[in-house]
Amino acid sequence: MDKIVILDFGGQYCHLISRRVRDFGVRAEVIPSNISEKLLLADKSIKGIILSGGARSVYEKDAPKFDKEILKSSIPILGICYGHQLIAHLMGGKVLSGKSGEYGLMNLNIKNGTEILARFGKSKNVWMNHRDIVVKLPKSSVCVASTEHSKIAAFANKKQKIFGVQFHPEVSHTENGDRILKNFVIDICKCKKSWTSTLVAQNLIRETRKVIGNDKMIIGLSGGVDSSVAAALVGRAIGKKLIAVYVDTGLMRDSETKFIKKTFRRKNLNLKIVKAEGRFFNALKGISSPEQKRKIIGKLFADIFYEISKKERASFLIQGTIYSDRIESGLTKHSSKIKSHHNVGGLPKNLKMKLYEPLKDLYKDEVRKLALELGLPKEITVRQVFPGPGLAVRIIGEITPERVKIVRQAGKIIEEELRETEFWKNIWMSFAVLLSVKSVGIQGDERSYKYPVVVRIVESRDAMTANFSKIPFSILEKISTRITNEIREVNRVVYDITNKPPATMEWE
Ligand code: XMP
Repeated sequence: MDKIVILDFGGQYCHLISRRVRDFGVRAEVIPSNISEKLLLADKSIKGIILSGGARSVYEKDAPKFDKEILKSSIPILGICYGHQLIAHLMGGKVLSGKSGEYGLMNLNIKNGTEILARFGKSKNVWMNHRDIVVKLPKSSVCVASTEHSKIAAFANKKQKIFGVQFHPEVSHTENGDRILKNFVIDICKCKKSWTSTLVAQNLIRETRKVIGNDKMIIGLSGGVDSSVAAALVGRAIGKKLIAVYVDTGLMRDSETKFIKKTFRRKNLNLKIVKAEGRFFNALKGISSPEQKRKIIGKLFADIFYEISKKERASFLIQGTIYSDRIESGLTKHSSKIKSHHNVGGLPKNLKMKLYEPLKDLYKDEVRKLALELGLPKEITVRQVFPGPGLAVRIIGEITPERVKIVRQAGKIIEEELRETEFWKNIWMSFAVLLSVKSVGIQGDERSYKYPVVVRIVESRDAMTANFSKIPFSILEKISTRITNEIREVNRVVYDITNKPPATMEWE
């Protein structure tokens, strides 16, 4: 498969670039910027290199750089923002550390609308986010566009196929920005469109057979779409040598174990159900810190998987980790750790089994497409996402069986009230969060002092960003009334109206 690589200089839109490229049907991968030319060019599937943006100035002592030799390769290169400045800096141009930058929409004047700017239009609004500017062209390059502040807002070196744009074509605010990326990926790099679910599935099945050989393996099956797809995929590759383990942690959704049995028993899967409620509640006793909860849960999962692997003589553990899990767990050198997603950062470092994560490079919507490709039932493919640590990260403060019961019941009410509405199809997740504070209420003519429940309903495409759902008050009121009527321990319901960022979807 032809591939575009994105060298990550730490820019906040770096992963958006790979998204956009994949949307054209071309494989894209974000990799650390300090990779050597030798290692990079050893991968013959690479047809183009994009240098991402970044927050630094090329003159800063420890600013991220890349192997200059890459610029001498015959592979086309496109620098975006910091990448644009870095190319200019390394190829004999000049970058000026700006006193004032350009932030937001700027008008771009196009001088030469061919190649990288072909079919982009005459004058366009583009999204700028920078302080430094390129003031002298890099060697053998011509300026192809400018703004009032950036005289060299885009340049092209036709012979070497090296291009730079100061603005961000990957951000949706840039009018027709996709066109620029498409010009680069399809017309300049000549990538063939091969990133389709069918080919992705075939490749992954082949890769799995190669990685695993004749070994037996176990997979942690949670009932979510990721682990179900991973199980179906690996099942196709190695058949009965795969043992699917569902751990009932006591922190699962309502009737989850029943659902798992019903859905997977008939799927001809070697399924093991482990009841471990007691172990999880004991280990979590008195623990309030979100990161500590995740680590404890991750370790317990690992212990259980290890015990089973010893019994079954399996050497691999498969997890349904996807791309966004890894990014938020601090995957790349420059990405900061938001939380230790239990299936990434939560597992202990000295895991005694080999780990295999076939979906680690896919975004959520790509996993859902793969689920359809693999013929998984609709109950799985359209299922709401549920976090690996389960309801533990939806209870602020200590976790007790009583508090789990409250948050589970409230979550069930929210789902029941939304399921039949027109909003359901757009919802990424809808759930309840139980807080640790109490507030005063009046119920049955008496003072009450009880916990509030937060209702969280979000819409998202790939988990990286999200918006709270604009659900009508009448539905929210119904949810609120049912929660306070049906759950004795709750006297107040609030709706979370925060997007991601600045919040995350889950509360912990
Ligand atoms: P956040 O809260 O980070 O969540 O905005 C993004 C998506 O990831 C899910 N999530 C997890 N999934 N293990 C998982 O498998 C985890 O530790 C974890 N934490 C969050 C979350 O439910 C949401 O869909």
